[in-house]
Amino acid sequence: MPTLAAEVPGPGPDAPETTKPVLSLREVDAAYGNVQILHGVSLDLFAGEVVSIIGPNGAGKSTVLKVIMGFLKPWAGEVTFDGEPITHLRTDLVVRRGISYVPQGRIVFKDMTVSENLEMGAYSIGDKGQIARTMDQVLTLFPRLAERRKQVAGTMSGGEQQMLAMGRALMIEPRVVLMDEPSLGLAPRFVELVFEKIGELRDAGMTLLLVEQNATKSLSVSDRGYVLELGRNRFTGPGVALLADERVKRLYLGG
Ligand SMILES: Nc1ncnc2c1ncn2[C@@H]1O[C@H](COP(=O)(O)OP(=O)(O)OP(=O)(O)O)[C@@H](O)[C@H]1O
Ligand SMILES: [Mg+2]
Repeated sequence: MPTLAAEVPGPGPDAPETTKPVLSLREVDAAYGNVQILHGVSLDLFAGEVVSIIGPNGAGKSTVLKVIMGFLKPWAGEVTFDGEPITHLRTDLVVRRGISYVPQGRIVFKDMTVSENLEMGAYSIGDKGQIARTMDQVLTLFPRLAERRKQVAGTMSGGEQQMLAMGRALMIEPRVVLMDEPSLGLAPRFVELVFEKIGELRDAGMTLLLVEQNATKSLSVSDRGYVLELGRNRFTGPGVALLADERVKRLYLGG
């Protein structure tokens, strides 16, 4: 039976208790200039989990990912990876630790081919053999990219570009992937495809932190979810519990 969504920060009732989180935010305050956006946000991500962050526009969802990646230094609080603080680490070093980021808006190198885009994703890896092996795996996961490996990215459809952005993030063989709104603005069949691929990544054991407008679909593929509101933790719990929770339904799922 799904437990009820808890109105507290922290890992939530169904989080694995025996293991330590691979990625963790503790009481993070963050601001743009002097405008505070995040107020004591806490979040845990355990290895092998898919976790969603949902919440209204402007809640601070993307800001959480920016803090993890080191684009934005928090005022207070801590981000840890494998138990070690990474709060003040430069972005390139965060990536080297094994955290990959798929930004909002299908950002690909439009004048480069699919293969070149994937190679760019692996720029921090020196070993050519490893890059080739990883590229094979990524192209197996995304057959549509394999068919189009010589195509210039800018000429592909929005959905294909999103597949490429996701594929590129996998090229460092990340331990954790952060995805910001992967389905936003896509035609329905590509929305389906994006969530199908997220499901495949989950089944392959990948650890994912997902920010999504499409809260229902996102929670459906997630082990757990966090609802942010006005930069604060509002609810947390297993995906199924949040989907079933009357308050969450009424406020965030349009139900
Ligand atoms: N670079 C920036 N400079 C100043 N304010 C910003 C900046 N980026 C975001 N904000 C503000 O921070 C708040 C949180 O933004 P954020 O992008 O994290 O929200 P979000 O939950 O991802 O929203 P959305 O669902 O619209 O993507 C918003 O009020 C936004 O206007
Ligand atoms: Mg956002």
